[in-house]
Amino acid sequence: MVETLEFLKKRRSVLARNMTGPGPDAEQLRALLGIGARVPDHGKLTPWRFVVLQGDDRAKLGAIAQKALDDAGAAEQFERAPCVVAVLACPQEHPKIPRSEMILSAGAACMNLLTAAQATGFAAQWLTGAAAYADAVLQALGGAQGDEIAGFIYIGTTDEAPSDRARPSLDDVVRFGLEE
Ligand SMILES: Cc1cc2nc3c(=O)[nH]c(=O)nc-3n(C[C@H](O)[C@H](O)[C@H](O)COP(=O)(O)O)c2cc1C
Repeated sequence: MVETLEFLKKRRSVLARNMTGPGPDAEQLRALLGIGARVPDHGKLTPWRFVVLQGDDRAKLGAIAQKALDDAGAAEQFERAPCVVAVLACPQEHPKIPRSEMILSAGAACMNLLTAAQATGFAAQWLTGAAAYADAVLQALGGAQGDEIAGFIYIGTTDEAPSDRARPSLDDVVRFGLEE
């Protein structure tokens, strides 16, 4: 699995605005979503859903976002890539498992989907933006009250290899052992 590690060491997102088609075909998309759904999930609650936006649905959701946010710039956002997958976090009441763990599982689903798309050779990016916090957008995606939009995973193609971006120094984010 050296190849997997080499991929993960270099993996990069591509800005949605630099994407073109094609996006994944039906079979590729099914494979990506299957990997997205294969994440740690305390209590096997499946606290997430995927909503696939392709074709006209992207402009329709953009129009809903534009109206909700009163922002003309929001209208075309979902058309930057041929395929956008909205990942909904759908936490539920549970006597033992905290809500935060269900949201984290949805975040893991976003990351798995992003990684799978990039490993397949697609350009992909995880975005939220103001639309992710608009009730009308959540509703249009079939979200229920209490659900949250964990992210929009944009999936497309690019002809430019992205350069790396600054990463945190491990010394700043890792400690070994306890506070004295
Ligand atoms: C939950 C979440 C939401 C994000 N939303 C945005 C966003 O709205 N706009 C943006 O420019 N970047 C956003 N980003 C960051 C992008 O995904 C960015 O491409 C990423 O940090 C690039 O890192 P990578 O190359 O390591 O994948 C978001 C990231 C996360 C985890």
